[in-house]
Amino acid sequence: MTAILGLNAYHGDAAAALVVDGELVAAAEEERFNRVKHVAGFPSLAAAWCLAEAGLKPAQLDHIAIGRDPRANFAAKIRRTLRHRPSPSYVRERVANQARVGDAGDAVADALGVDRGSLRAKFHRVEHHRAHVASAFYVSPFDDAAVLTVDGFGDFASTMLAVGRDTKLEILDRVLFPHSLGIFYTAVTQWLGFPHYGDEGKVMGLAPYGEPVYADKMRELVRVKGDLFELGLEYFTHHTRGVEMTWADGSPTIGRIFSQRMEDLLGPARQPDEPVATHHENVARSLQHVLEETYLHLVRSLHERTRNTRLALAGGVALNAVANGRIIPETPFADVYVQPAAGDSGTAVGAAFDVWHNAADGSRGFVMGSADWGPHYDDEACAGAFAVAGVSATRLDDDELFPFVAGKIADGEVIGWFQGRMEFGPRALGQRSIVADPRRDDMKDILNARIKHREPFRPFAPSVLADRVGEWFEQDYPSPFMVLVYKTRVEKREQIPAVNHVDDTGRVQSVEPAVLPRYWRLIAEFDKLTGVPILLNTSFNENEPIVMTPAHAIETFQKTRMDMLVLDNYVARRASE
Ligand SMILES: [Fe+2]
Repeated sequence: MTAILGLNAYHGDAAAALVVDGELVAAAEEERFNRVKHVAGFPSLAAAWCLAEAGLKPAQLDHIAIGRDPRANFAAKIRRTLRHRPSPSYVRERVANQARVGDAGDAVADALGVDRGSLRAKFHRVEHHRAHVASAFYVSPFDDAAVLTVDGFGDFASTMLAVGRDTKLEILDRVLFPHSLGIFYTAVTQWLGFPHYGDEGKVMGLAPYGEPVYADKMRELVRVKGDLFELGLEYFTHHTRGVEMTWADGSPTIGRIFSQRMEDLLGPARQPDEPVATHHENVARSLQHVLEETYLHLVRSLHERTRNTRLALAGGVALNAVANGRIIPETPFADVYVQPAAGDSGTAVGAAFDVWHNAADGSRGFVMGSADWGPHYDDEACAGAFAVAGVSATRLDDDELFPFVAGKIADGEVIGWFQGRMEFGPRALGQRSIVADPRRDDMKDILNARIKHREPFRPFAPSVLADRVGEWFEQDYPSPFMVLVYKTRVEKREQIPAVNHVDDTGRVQSVEPAVLPRYWRLIAEFDKLTGVPILLNTSFNENEPIVMTPAHAIETFQKTRMDMLVLDNYVARRASE
């Protein structure tokens, strides 16, 4: 047996993943355990859980792989440091961070509650973008593929172009600091008054309300250059001060990275409490427009260089589902794979598989066809959690459960739907979801008022029976992980107003019966009643990390105004007011 623990540590979305004999057996983000959104630091609880889940002792680990390597791109880093003098506090933070990555063996031993001496595992550092590349290609269904990874920064790089063939990765190109599409998007997101880590998704939702009238101005911020791109650095500050990311014990925060020049170009930055005006919508739309343009340029360049028609994607920017939705119709790529944890948490999986295929010489065979790699709870645990919370619940057999819940959804109720293993990655995909009727005009407002308290411009996503996607949307390429946005068919738009965004699109999740049998069955029952094979799906949380345990789910059920909570086969109704 070969057991490999993969880690994303000291970076946003800390996570752990366990690969045994080339198969992923467990993966989870630390934020779900410690309840701090996007928590960075070391994924102690997630790592300990992965081992417990597999019934392994720390001494049985053969390899530990971290998706960071401070030595990567070292020559470029040194050249940069000699030319520019970063602030002393920035240098102190980077040195401390590098020391932590270098010493992760101690942190692993601490997390697993053993002496370092008892760990026989070999320790590996995998360059951040190589870990992203590995996380995209090695678990894809492709024997060979072009691979593109795009994010803010990791180990001094922001973009990697690669090709994967069987067990080998060939790195074709990199974009190094200070140029970064992720930084471009984050900087304008900050200008737009969304300062929190991970707020870029909000801007993607806001963009369709505006027009791309400032596209030319955006092209001053980022422009294509050869196969790649470069930033107009005068509009940013990260190249002089560094990206000041701090996390202490809380969520990561990134200091302001846009310069006064950006305000000269776009006007004064919006304050977070200021209303969103047409001007802001137009800036968001222009940002998204030029992001898509540059991203598709990278995609096309990669195709030119590889002549491969299969594409695997990862990195935070690869979570831009609107940009991804344009790849198949508008580029020579015929197949696209984006694994569910395409953001930084996925580097835990990538680092582990990189070691499996290189250091451990393992063979291919595993495909990450689902996101269900997290903790799960049996009947007894669900019943016990209700008892502890003093909430009465009834157990229904499957034959009763599915029609009953589907009927309540069709009646307009909002349901907390908790089943099986928690998803790995940022999206709830029917295991830790809140589901509702997509046919109701008022459902977005109901969800926002009663549960989610989100900005009103953010869309809700449709989960669709996989073989029916083409009936409702203009594309039907499988999108099991909700990372592709498709145009809603003209004749269907009025039927599903709660999941049809202002630009007549939906961030589709295609649901396969073999992958998500219980969620598929729920949607199929809803289809029987209504003729609509779609549910509105939003993550099971209220401005907190997605729920993990039955106790978290019950707590969120109680503090919000959900109508019903379903934990596996147990159903609890909200007490009538
Ligand atoms: Fe990354």
